Amino acid sequence: MNKIQKLIEENVFWLIVLTVLVISVAMMVEILPLAFSKSVTQPIEGVKPYTALQLAGRDVYLREGCYNCHSQMIRPFRAETERYGHYSVGGESVYDHPFLWGSKRTGPDLARVGGRYSDEWHRAHLNNPRDVVPESIMPAFPWLAANKVDAESLPAKMRALRRVGVPYTDAEIATATKDAEGKTESEAVIAYLQSLGLALKNKR
Ligand code: HEC
Repeated sequence: MNKIQKLIEENVFWLIVLTVLVISVAMMVEILPLAFSKSVTQPIEGVKPYTALQLAGRDVYLREGCYNCHSQMIRPFRAETERYGHYSVGGESVYDHPFLWGSKRTGPDLARVGGRYSDEWHRAHLNNPRDVVPESIMPAFPWLAANKVDAESLPAKMRALRRVGVPYTDAEIATATKDAEGKTESEAVIAYLQSLGLALKNKR
């Protein structure tokens, strides 16, 4: 054993310092270029910021923990693209804060669910999944149809999103409360679900 090897392997201080150094450099090499890469910082064609109602629906989706059972990330494998459609790309999620990719699928991936079912189907499904899919193990969310969305909070949420790069206009923020006022949480979640994956819907 030469001297340097002996020092590193027998002195835990140097072992820790050098391990941290190696991992830090490796992380910078892997992660830093991504922060400047167009493919993950620019929206792909057809991706638009969520409307006020879709944004309210997305917050209900987060609150109810739908992401615990549903991923929104189709991996580039044949079995996945045959079932769900085009695999997910970074440019689809640039307006998502936080992103909801996920890796746990108790239910199917929802990245391309927009347009797959009618609003009426979603309404029945959220109210009681067994009414439309008899073998379903998804929980029922009957309160979504009874609750009204929290429209008052939308302008503040949209301003916060604008700060991190979502291009909302002043006009969109000004009318946000009015746009979502009086709608039920069920309508909002459905508007959100129907917007998912449209940009790559018909691509293979
Ligand atoms: C405990 C796990 C679980 C939770 C939580 C859950 N789901 Fe599901 N979901 C499932 C399962 C399993 C299926 C497949 C059977 C079915 O269609 O009901 C499913 C199916 C779906 C589908 C149909 C997808 C397709 O392509 O056929 C949609 C849309 C959906 N869920 C939306 C939601 C929403 C919105 C929420 C939150 C309000 C939610 N789910 C919460 C398990 C879950």
